[in-house]
Amino acid sequence: MRAVIAGSGSCIAPKLVTNDMLARIMDTSDEWIRERTGVEQRYFVEKGTSTTDLAEGAARRALEAAGLTGADLDAIVFATMTPDHFFPGCGGLLQHRLGMRPGPCFDIRQQCSGFIYGLELADLQIRAGKARTVLLVGAEVHSGFMPWREGSWARLDGHVDAPLAEGEWEVNTRTRHLSVLFGDAAAAVVLTAAEDGDRGVIDAMLFADGAEADKLCVPGVGFRHRPYVDDGQLARAEFVPVMDGRHVFRMATTRMAEAAQAILARNGLAVGDLRMVLMHQANRRINEYVQKALGLPEDKVVHNIHKYANTTAGTIPLLWDECVREGRVRPGDLVLMVAFGAGMTWGAALVRA
Ligand code: UT7
Repeated sequence: MRAVIAGSGSCIAPKLVTNDMLARIMDTSDEWIRERTGVEQRYFVEKGTSTTDLAEGAARRALEAAGLTGADLDAIVFATMTPDHFFPGCGGLLQHRLGMRPGPCFDIRQQCSGFIYGLELADLQIRAGKARTVLLVGAEVHSGFMPWREGSWARLDGHVDAPLAEGEWEVNTRTRHLSVLFGDAAAAVVLTAAEDGDRGVIDAMLFADGAEADKLCVPGVGFRHRPYVDDGQLARAEFVPVMDGRHVFRMATTRMAEAAQAILARNGLAVGDLRMVLMHQANRRINEYVQKALGLPEDKVVHNIHKYANTTAGTIPLLWDECVREGRVRPGDLVLMVAFGAGMTWGAALVRA
């Protein structure tokens, strides 16, 4: 029994924010962001829109593409690091909205590796015969991580002379190496059981190593604190992730290349067998290193970080959805997916479209 991707869909937040617009609220420039990361713009939700809202949009499109409805689902796997609530997770909220009967809904949090981890979980449900149709979503609303206050958001909305609070520019600038990297989006795939044929999820390899978890984490707002959130943490902006960017950069290039090589070797495959490699979109320069390390020709690599920035669990299904809709990935094509993220977590998956 194999899990075949029967349909995909995505939902991009509506508010376009270019690099130049970010320079209205912090000391940064289009040139710096573009050259160091490849990001040219990102989209943010309107205040009040949640990760589950974006996920619902993506899920409905994925179900439509698969010719199914929520009533056909046996399970949901929901990958996000920006859930609507500390609890409950988004999986059950989505189950209710889609009209799926009560069934298993997994909420997983492996950050940028969330989709690959979710793919393994969905595939195993199907291989074990416990589900025939599984919805897998990667969705994020990162805008809540931003320390930007009302004045900053007003400037991004076009009120370029909106007043900033005392110290607001400085806080925005202090967190600029992180805030410029992210955008809000969701993407989903529907996996269905196929009893024969060679299409579907072929293999996945997952890794986690907590030894360097502090290199990319949210230092505040957690049950290590009592209470888990307080005014002091908010004043110190400890709800904003901290990141040792250079360290994460080095780990990402090494681990993504290693995972890709390992899964190809385990399956007796070579780069020449692949139609496309979908790499997590955290920094275009990371992916260019990986491309070089693997000896991948240009036509096997696709980027969309320039349009959406890093959408964490959303990046790989977004790439998949775009490639399928543009005809760059067709039925029968072999696709390698590879990601690295906070935790540290990383992994790779092989899927025949
Ligand atoms: O998916 C989540 C996983 N995250 C990642 O994969 C991120 C991996 N790391 C990276 O992508 C890069 O390390 C960054 C893009 C985050 C940073 O690029 P970098 O080339 O490593 O820059 P840096 O942090 O070493 O900073 C270089 C300079 C610093 O100024 P000084 O000290 O040289 O004067 C920074 O303060 O660039 C400055 N800087 C900025 N300047 C303008 C940092 N961020 C910005 C900014 N705009 N947004």
